[in-house]
Amino acid sequence: PMGETNGGGLVLVGYRGTGKSTVGRLLAGRSGRPFVDVDDVIVARAGRTIRAIFEDSGEPAFRELEESVVRDLVATHPGAVLGTGGGTILREANRRALTTFGLVAWLRADADELARRLEADSATRETRPSLTSKGALEEIAEVLAVRTPFYQEIAQVVVDTQERGPAEVADLILRHW
Ligand code: S3P
Repeated sequence: PMGETNGGGLVLVGYRGTGKSTVGRLLAGRSGRPFVDVDDVIVARAGRTIRAIFEDSGEPAFRELEESVVRDLVATHPGAVLGTGGGTILREANRRALTTFGLVAWLRADADELARRLEADSATRETRPSLTSKGALEEIAEVLAVRTPFYQEIAQVVVDTQERGPAEVADLILRHW
């Protein structure tokens, strides 16, 4: 039942292109809870795109901002559907805060599928920074290898999005939340 086993909220984690924002909005609509997105709040606070924050201030500064936004959203939006950035789970403080907030659902897909989705999504390519100096598929494979243990560590529900659309992913999550 909704929220019985945790803080009552729902957290979506996973790599870029796994559908966190789309699925989060669907779940918010279906549950009547608000959807809040860590990246959106960072962009609003900084008044710049995430790509611009990375370019002007560097990734460490972005991660500091991200941690403070996670801390604030978790405190101010109990019970909400919370969308995270692909790297939000890198910091232990974030993993702890997210776990306390609610059910953590990991949306996963293989590196080659993620590369295809990002290739097809020019808006994401323009507003998000590269994370390495490598080509897309190599970058995704490398970054996923680093992050997978963290996603695994905090996920209470794992949803394979490889061959599922957002509505079906949302249905699967609702069975657990
Ligand atoms: C990042 C993913 C992005 C955003 C930033 C860093 C990452 O979020 O937080 O560009 O490290 O994977 P999305 O997963 O929402 O694209």
